[in-house]
Amino acid sequence: MGYMVDEEYEILEELDETEKVKEDDDIDPEVSMLLSSSYNPFKTSFLPVLIINKNLKIIYSNESCENMFSGFTLLNGKYFFDLFGKAFKIEDARKIRDTILNGGNGFSWKGSAQLKTRNASSVQIRVYIFPLEMDLKAPSDFVIMFDDFTEDNKKLLRSVFLSLLEASKLKDNDTGNHTIRVNEYSKRFSEVLYKRHGDIYRRIDADFIDNIGFLAAMHDVGKIGTPDDILNKKGPLSDWEWAVMREHTKNGAYILSTYPNPMAKEIALSHHEKWNGTGYPFQLEGEMIPLAARIVTIADVYDALRMERSYKPTLNHEITRQKIIEQSGTFFDPNLIEIFKEISEDFAKIYDTYKN
Ligand SMILES: [Fe+2]
Ligand SMILES: [Fe+2]
Repeated sequence: MGYMVDEEYEILEELDETEKVKEDDDIDPEVSMLLSSSYNPFKTSFLPVLIINKNLKIIYSNESCENMFSGFTLLNGKYFFDLFGKAFKIEDARKIRDTILNGGNGFSWKGSAQLKTRNASSVQIRVYIFPLEMDLKAPSDFVIMFDDFTEDNKKLLRSVFLSLLEASKLKDNDTGNHTIRVNEYSKRFSEVLYKRHGDIYRRIDADFIDNIGFLAAMHDVGKIGTPDDILNKKGPLSDWEWAVMREHTKNGAYILSTYPNPMAKEIALSHHEKWNGTGYPFQLEGEMIPLAARIVTIADVYDALRMERSYKPTLNHEITRQKIIEQSGTFFDPNLIEIFKEISEDFAKIYDTYKN
């Protein structure tokens, strides 16, 4: 959604330009009076509301709307499609135009849109368009009402995958808050990449940070398919047992393949790849390893070293930090390790905060 090829952009711009030519901005005095009076029903509505005229120009926006789209600053006087064009699929943009100009679909339209900026998480919104006036023969102004359903959607989706994670944790010896901490390190790491190194890491935006902060925990969800006797074996694993163990990456990718963001799959599949190409399952090398997986690898190893396990004692922060830095360029992405050096104190804090 929200994706358009260049050709379609041109069509959209074309639609827009034709409207700008026949400029006629006189606001109906009655409408103007209603909107500025205390009877304006949209003024205090908690749903964001815009009113546009027949030229698709915004003539009013209520407070909720100004809050929701504050990135756009002044909404009034702008062309609706200049601000919101990219949020709609091209066929929807056409239908909206037809609704307003030709009274298509009884002068009303209902659909959805996706708004995306780099420094705010993308929002999914329901959009309702209907005439402002009661006279439906030739309405001149239209109400556009938005309803943000991002949070509801996200909650529902994530609760399903959280249950899956809980199920896998029942089997795994990675006990306690390991998954929570891996989320937190990965999120912190991505925030720093975005804030201090955003010019290099252009793919990182508010969505990336939000997603990795949820999905990093899923890295070992594929262990749900690993036989218990291998997963919980006390002694060292034999060759074939290792082969079965490594399958957890592919199983995880399979389980997470229905998650609507490919980052889920990338993390599960590639969190055991190594920068020098000696990891598994595919011996990916360098930047062929997805960025999210490279971040989670550092977070996962840091936490695994610090944790006490049946076969090893805890390591303190300093020793762990040193061990990780030693593996820069072999195990880990050397560019990310430079950043790890900057923020390793944050890792220590997170470990302490979410200690078991
Ligand atoms: Fe793993
Ligand atoms: Fe882990």
